[in-house]
Amino acid sequence: MTDDFIRFENVSYSYTSDADNIKYAIENADLTIKKGEFTAIAGRNGSGKSTLAKLMNALLIPTYGKVYVNGKDTSDESEVWDIRRTVGMVFQNPDSQIVGATVEDDIAFGLENIGLSRDEMHERIDRALLTVRLEKERSTQPHLLSGGQKQRCAIAGITAMRPECIVFDEATAMLDPSGRREVMELAHRLNKENGITIVDITHHMEEVCCADRVILIESGKIIADTAPSELFRNRRLVEEAGLELPKAAELAEVLRDKGVPVRGTVLTGDECFEALSELLSDLHFTGESFA
Ligand SMILES: Nc1ncnc2c1ncn2[C@@H]1O[C@H](COP(=O)(O)OP(=O)(O)O)[C@@H](O)[C@H]1O
Ligand SMILES: [Mg+2]
Repeated sequence: MTDDFIRFENVSYSYTSDADNIKYAIENADLTIKKGEFTAIAGRNGSGKSTLAKLMNALLIPTYGKVYVNGKDTSDESEVWDIRRTVGMVFQNPDSQIVGATVEDDIAFGLENIGLSRDEMHERIDRALLTVRLEKERSTQPHLLSGGQKQRCAIAGITAMRPECIVFDEATAMLDPSGRREVMELAHRLNKENGITIVDITHHMEEVCCADRVILIESGKIIADTAPSELFRNRRLVEEAGLELPKAAELAEVLRDKGVPVRGTVLTGDECFEALSELLSDLHFTGESFA
């Protein structure tokens, strides 16, 4: 028994089948995601992130190689619906994912086709509303919700299907900072409290910093698979993948370049606050200056 949850074995994917002109959106990808992990995926636009995501839940089937979800081959047609229920997807545009006239109807939509009793359906809707904290918005029309609330509504629809994994494909890209925080707070809570495996495709380095692991894609190839703290120590890799340092890390770098002894790993706002507070309290006690 292994805790491998998603496994890519030498996977290539091409959108075209024209053999003379073949171009791979994903090329020779080997990848294992374990149950319960929180993985970030980053890379430039067009590098293959969405293709990789769609290969994870059988929305796309590899041109070469194999993808397994819980040991099930995604190219086995008899497993497709089960795989799609196991791995839910949240996309970028919150408006394109909502189909119900009210929040409650929207959550019910996916449940209607899986043969549940009325009681079971109500119970799952209540639980999903509670999980995403939209109990008060249960009868609200989705178009009246904020961007963050719409994404939480979409996530409620997915959690009601009892997935083991949720893939966020730039699900925070169209949200304002408070919407982004709401959705990320929910993603981390689903991971920690419900044990749901999370794959978060993102351009926001603050999100990358909070993941267990980050995978970098460039021109269809996986160029790094590492801990976020390692990634941001490797400037060449950060530049190669077209990423920026997180704001907090950038500030720490600028200060270090100027000879200010900022200690420890500084990636998140909290770590930056801690490092600077420590520095200021040292200064206060010693009366030293950095000049
Ligand atoms: N439906 C499609 N048909 C043809 N080419 C596509 C399609 N979707 C994506 N591509 C191409 O595949 C490559 C990877 O795209 P994608 O996975 O969407 O990248 P990302 O999500 O990183 O922006 C790009 O060159 C893109 O133009
Ligand atoms: Mg994409």
